[in-house]
Amino acid sequence: MAETSVVQKVADEIRALSEPQGAAPPPAFPSATGPARTAARSHGGTPASAGAANGASRPAGAATNPGTSTVTSIVTKAADPAVSPHPYASLLREKRLASEANGRARRETLLYLDGVTKSFDGFKAINNLSLVIEKGEMRAIIGPNGAGKTTMMDIITGKTRPDKGEVFFNGDVDLTHHDEAAIASMGIGRKFQKPTVFESHTVEDNIRLSLSGPRSVLEALVHRKNAPERDRIDAILETTRLTARRATFAANLSHGQKQWLEIGMLLAQDPELLLVDEPVAGMTDAETEETARLLREIARTRSVVVVEHDMHFVRELGVKVTCLHEGSVLSEGTLDKVSADPKVIEVYLGR
Ligand SMILES: Nc1ncnc2c1ncn2[C@@H]1O[C@H](COP(=O)(O)OP(=O)(O)OP(=O)(O)O)[C@@H](O)[C@H]1O
Ligand SMILES: [Mg+2]
Repeated sequence: MAETSVVQKVADEIRALSEPQGAAPPPAFPSATGPARTAARSHGGTPASAGAANGASRPAGAATNPGTSTVTSIVTKAADPAVSPHPYASLLREKRLASEANGRARRETLLYLDGVTKSFDGFKAINNLSLVIEKGEMRAIIGPNGAGKTTMMDIITGKTRPDKGEVFFNGDVDLTHHDEAAIASMGIGRKFQKPTVFESHTVEDNIRLSLSGPRSVLEALVHRKNAPERDRIDAILETTRLTARRATFAANLSHGQKQWLEIGMLLAQDPELLLVDEPVAGMTDAETEETARLLREIARTRSVVVVEHDMHFVRELGVKVTCLHEGSVLSEGTLDKVSADPKVIEVYLGR
């Protein structure tokens, strides 16, 4: 009992001595023994002069109390703020530095996801997911069925709202506060797994209808003579390998060409970030290889995130790979590194 009260006094004195002058008092220690032990440990390295220098901040009467004189001499040395900072002060400093580092990382990246979680009926489709895409980067996302790849894109594009976590675009734009239309207009274009083109329009008109700008469908189709617009359409048709098919109805394109046309329609909106979900599913080998070339060209002027199961295609892309599993990042790096990762082999490549 007597021991407890001495320890309590030590704790009280440490608190009083390490409190900055004029600052609000820190919260009470959760227990007397923890901080007292900390003080006793740090006491060993305290220079002799430090205790004297610290005397000024000691509360009046503490040193003159005969019952605590031994305790006071220990505390006087242990509580020098220059040598043994307040335990909560260093905690707060660490927290502040970590948050500053996070803020910097966020501002310097195009897409920043941290601690993102999304449950459907108690099942975590996305589980504490953290992912960073640099400006101008192309990233391939792989992972088994149900890994959460499409849900991740749903979250980025505002189709699904996460339960918790941070999703930032271009540094400071909190995407969780915006809806799909707003996010699309900010420069995030998304290609879904199934191509959605206007089948009864020509390839060229599909692109024209998608050009950014507040115009009605009629205006878009009537004003065909605009030279800058024509140049843009030509460039997009060239990129998407559809120049020779410009007058073809979209309904008559092959599956691969429809996928390219949809990519072209997204390019017409000039996105800064393009999200592409399984672009080569159902394509011929030749179309698959052409799509890798096409996306590499596109990635010269914007960031691209490509979800794909086809490892040959991912290798052709030649970019950093992230493997998702059960809603989290399982492995990240070059395709060689990721595909040699035993965790990846177990859950994905070795199925
Ligand atoms: N709206 C939803 N309601 C309920 N469950 C959902 C919903 N959307 C996704 N899920 C579940 O979340 C998990 C992740 O699905 P998601 O479609 O993101 O996986 P994926 O990695 O894209 O898979 P795949 O490779 O097959 O396309 C799956 O188990 C899926 O059933
Ligand atoms: Mg999917």
